[in-house]
Amino acid sequence: MTENTNDVLVRADGLYKVFGRRTQEAVDRLRAGSARDDLDGVTAAVIDASFEVKRGEIFVVMGLSGSGKSTLIRMINGLFEATAGTLTIGDQEITSISEKKLRAIRRDHISMVFQHFALLPHRTVADNVAYPLELQGVGRPERLDKANEILGLVGLGGWGEKLPSELSGGMQQRVGIARALAADTDILLMDEAFSALDPLIRREMQEQLLELQQKLQKTIIFITHDLNEAMFLGDRIAVMRDGRIVQIGTPEDILTDPANDYVEQFVQDVDRARVLTAGNVMEKPIAVVPSTAGPRTALKTMRDSFLSAVYVVDRDRRLLGTLEDRDALRLVRKGERSIEGVVKDDAVTVGIDDVLMDLFIPAVESKLAVAVTDAAGRLVGVIPRMTLLAALGPGPGATEEISLPVQPVPTTVIDQVLADSEDGRPVESPAVGSEEAR
Ligand SMILES: Nc1ncnc2c1ncn2[C@@H]1O[C@H](COP(=O)(O)OP(=O)(O)O)[C@@H](O)[C@H]1O
Ligand SMILES: [Mg+2]
Repeated sequence: MTENTNDVLVRADGLYKVFGRRTQEAVDRLRAGSARDDLDGVTAAVIDASFEVKRGEIFVVMGLSGSGKSTLIRMINGLFEATAGTLTIGDQEITSISEKKLRAIRRDHISMVFQHFALLPHRTVADNVAYPLELQGVGRPERLDKANEILGLVGLGGWGEKLPSELSGGMQQRVGIARALAADTDILLMDEAFSALDPLIRREMQEQLLELQQKLQKTIIFITHDLNEAMFLGDRIAVMRDGRIVQIGTPEDILTDPANDYVEQFVQDVDRARVLTAGNVMEKPIAVVPSTAGPRTALKTMRDSFLSAVYVVDRDRRLLGTLEDRDALRLVRKGERSIEGVVKDDAVTVGIDDVLMDLFIPAVESKLAVAVTDAAGRLVGVIPRMTLLAALGPGPGATEEISLPVQPVPTTVIDQVLADSEDGRPVESPAVGSEEAR
């Protein structure tokens, strides 16, 4: 797939921000290979940062405190001038334009959500949300209408007349988000926007942000020092360390292929269950038969994969259900040619984008490896319980023996029946493969 350049909304190219005196000289020295710590009297807050943020994505900048995240975002919103390098917003290179033009670009494109909400305490919630519109010169009735509409969007319908102090922290930050949305810009900058909130509220806010984003499709640059938050929210993540971006990738890239020891150490305690999806860990389904297969084929497939059942699909690979060994065995013994009458509609399926956290219950309920289906209901993969546990990384349980809910019919019995039978002719000895043999 080729990326259309129109899809890139923010682009940084070799961006530097150095605080102190003789900053150009410091950039020259950094470019020549000097280490950040070798520079005297200056702080190189951002060093040679290059990245592209695509329209509609959540791009997370993650790093420890002091790694340069806020400085980076402040260059994007024009609060800091870059010491070197270029920054492009839309099709406008902003590092070389006039103050006036820069202000216009900020106003038209960029809104910011702050860590400490920065609400005006003596104004009502609705007036806070309407504030950017007031700055744009929108009349009061119109801007209050708009404010109340957006408050509804962030789940605060009916709270417009309250003062910020009457709201909880999480609600205040939703006001902060509503205010950022009011200006209707395409870029939302969020600097540690949830970091001041209690963990549970924070989770809720993260989920709400994703919900909101599904509706609004903004371009969001989200800064956090919390890798779990980064992994949960980010379409892509830039990991910063000491002013430099050390890796840019999807959460899966960063989790499964960390660029260096630093990132690897960081990802060790990530909550993989919230990051990895069914699609990330699924395996090729082997125990699958088409609905046109005969019972012998189905039984052989089960025997070869040591399973008590198989998935049955139609000719477009859409999942029809499961077939159990004892039913297949019975059909073989009766000399039946078709399995269609005994396919059970009890397949436990999950979506390809479901996170692992949502797979535990299906995994427990399923007699087979959980079936992963795409939007069209096609069987695209399976997730055996062992795979699910292994994907969560080392830990208790990962190596434990897992008992199957249904014990397969012993292969010796299956082999006997297959040997004694052929399609269209029943087996003589009814004792073989009977329920007692299980
Ligand atoms: N206005 C400033 N003047 C001087 N140094 C600064 C300024 N802003 C940030 N710094 C320094 O730049 C580095 C990066 O800071 P910052 O971008 O705030 O990091 P983060 O947001 O990742 O915590 C730090 O060493 C910080 O002390
Ligand atoms: Mg910061």
